[in-house]
Amino acid sequence: MTAERDAADWIRSHAPGFTPRVGIILGSGLGAAAQSIAQVSSFRYQDIPGFPRSYVSGHAGQLILGHLQSAPVIAMQGRAHLYEGWSVEQATLPVRTMIELGISLLIVSNASGGINLRFRSGQTVLIDHHLNWMNGIRSPRNPALVAVEARSVMGVPVRTSCIYDPLWLGRAEKAAIELGFSLSRGTYLATLGPNYETRAEYRAFARMGADMVGMSTVPETIVASQHGIPTLAFSVITNVARPDAPTRTDHHEVLEWSQIAQSQLVPLIERLMVQYFS
Ligand code: HPA
Repeated sequence: MTAERDAADWIRSHAPGFTPRVGIILGSGLGAAAQSIAQVSSFRYQDIPGFPRSYVSGHAGQLILGHLQSAPVIAMQGRAHLYEGWSVEQATLPVRTMIELGISLLIVSNASGGINLRFRSGQTVLIDHHLNWMNGIRSPRNPALVAVEARSVMGVPVRTSCIYDPLWLGRAEKAAIELGFSLSRGTYLATLGPNYETRAEYRAFARMGADMVGMSTVPETIVASQHGIPTLAFSVITNVARPDAPTRTDHHEVLEWSQIAQSQLVPLIERLMVQYFS
């Protein structure tokens, strides 16, 4: 019995007959988006076998099953981070559980620091590539995770074409235009955190090609791609790093801007549900 099967069985027994088609992970400050879901059931992470809790504010720690428009969805209100001490295997258990339950699309959101100086706080950016700066901490107990990542680093396209699926990127851009705004694309660099970056790090990351930086998402999207599940990932810029005009970044600022960004993100996801999961 795998841990994800245990968790999935527990969820199935508490929400019989419900089969989610889309998994949604709501990151820092974005949890209120769950209010748009017509709930069938909700569970606290600590009640689900093996689920990691998040101790970070802005992460409610609830798993919600229900309908977003007509689509059956399973949504995580908050996530566990590697910097809280969870292993990759523990932190990605919820994604593997959602896959076990039958999702065919993973939608991920996070808060990030803007490195691309064209970005503004409150803006939502579509992640189209990532730089995995969490590298040193892969779980040795999950050789498959190591294998997929190693092959992608060497440039061999083993399933990695499914990460940040071009089809879904295009669909999201089109839906945004229909709603009256446009989305930029960008490369997300993931660090272990929990500290925000020094000016030198922001400068270095910009040279490496990062458009934004955050502390999550990459383990989840790698696992989804391992299973052939396409991911659509939204990053809400909550502060813009200007190494030469430094300001302080704190978690309150991050939460404030991500709450503002929800007003775009929620209608956008709803629209995608209506268009592709009716
Ligand atoms: N750095 C890392 N993670 C973040 C930031 C940042 O500047 N802002 C929000 N999450």
